[in-house]
Amino acid sequence: MSTQEIKRVGILTGGGDCPGINAVLRAVTKTAMFDHGWECFGIEDGFLGLIEDRIRPLSFQDVSNILTRGGTILGTSNKANPSRFAVGHDADGHPIFKDVREKAMAHYRKHKLDALVVIGGDGTMTCAATMIPMGLRCVGVPKTIDNDLMHTHVTFGFQTAVEIATEALDRLHTTAASHNRVMVVELMGRNAGWLTLFAGLASGSDVILIPEIPYDINKVCDYCRDRMEHHKAFTIVAVSEGARPVGGEQFVHKTIADSPDPIRLGGIAHQLQDQIEKCSGIETRAVVLGHVQRGGTPCAADRVLATRFGHAATELLARAEFSRLVVVQSGQITSVPIAEVADRQRQVEPDNELVKIARSVGTCFGD
Ligand code: F6P
Repeated sequence: MSTQEIKRVGILTGGGDCPGINAVLRAVTKTAMFDHGWECFGIEDGFLGLIEDRIRPLSFQDVSNILTRGGTILGTSNKANPSRFAVGHDADGHPIFKDVREKAMAHYRKHKLDALVVIGGDGTMTCAATMIPMGLRCVGVPKTIDNDLMHTHVTFGFQTAVEIATEALDRLHTTAASHNRVMVVELMGRNAGWLTLFAGLASGSDVILIPEIPYDINKVCDYCRDRMEHHKAFTIVAVSEGARPVGGEQFVHKTIADSPDPIRLGGIAHQLQDQIEKCSGIETRAVVLGHVQRGGTPCAADRVLATRFGHAATELLARAEFSRLVVVQSGQITSVPIAEVADRQRQVEPDNELVKIARSVGTCFGD
């Protein structure tokens, strides 16, 4: 297909929101409008809007003054997988799934969309990948505070979440020091420890527990006691929601049956609080940072990254390079096939440079 055939571009944002989505929407729409003379259309609530035909034009006014705004002006959904869409429940209350990709493709054609820009994490890219064989033309933009997409060194939203979590950990230092307490702080990140590793290192947290390095609770308690006796009377423990003890399981908060990624992690901070208090004898408190890590305005680095990503996605469309995800590798924007990131997650290697450095400055990983 020649580049001239692109005239109408749909944009959707899938999965959990994060700071910087609106900056991507703005960059795609303005680049499409100013550099190429294309029209853009916003699809509401991710793939749900494509399935339910909720698609509206995006004007200059719609994307003006949204660079700094958190969340997504289009809405998002982490329950709408077109190839496995929940259409109701059976007598036992279990969801009934149906393949509604044809319906979604019918709406794509009805609005005469020439291609989609799909902004999301691995779940959203998996949804897009299953529709490519049906004729969907798309490019992807990597979004998640978890920073766990394959083939990109950073996703937008991550750096803002690191800033938010770091500020919280900094603040918790002063209250922990005043009361001689252990503070156990639970961070998001699913099965990847990037957010906890970066925020833990940036805040000088004393213990960093991540999914990729199972911990021994006795070693964590010994470390807290030793610190109390010889160094400082307080300890900050930054723990990923996906961390787990050696030989044990992750802490599952709940299961959302009709979500493509049904497991919601959570609860480890309170478990650790009880265990550390009991075995170390030091008064301990748990703090769960939760969705505050995803809220609010993107930091400057994420605004720049999101704008670079949005521009690059539009340029991929202009060059008719479909089915690709824009990524950053060694600081440069490039792209990889969407199929290569679908259904996969990038985790911290236990011998990652930052892990080694953290160990060198005395950080305990519980191993
Ligand atoms: O993937 C982003 C993320 O915030 C994870 O860090 C977290 O585990 C999950 O989403 C929470 O999902 P929800 O918004 O459905 O509670």
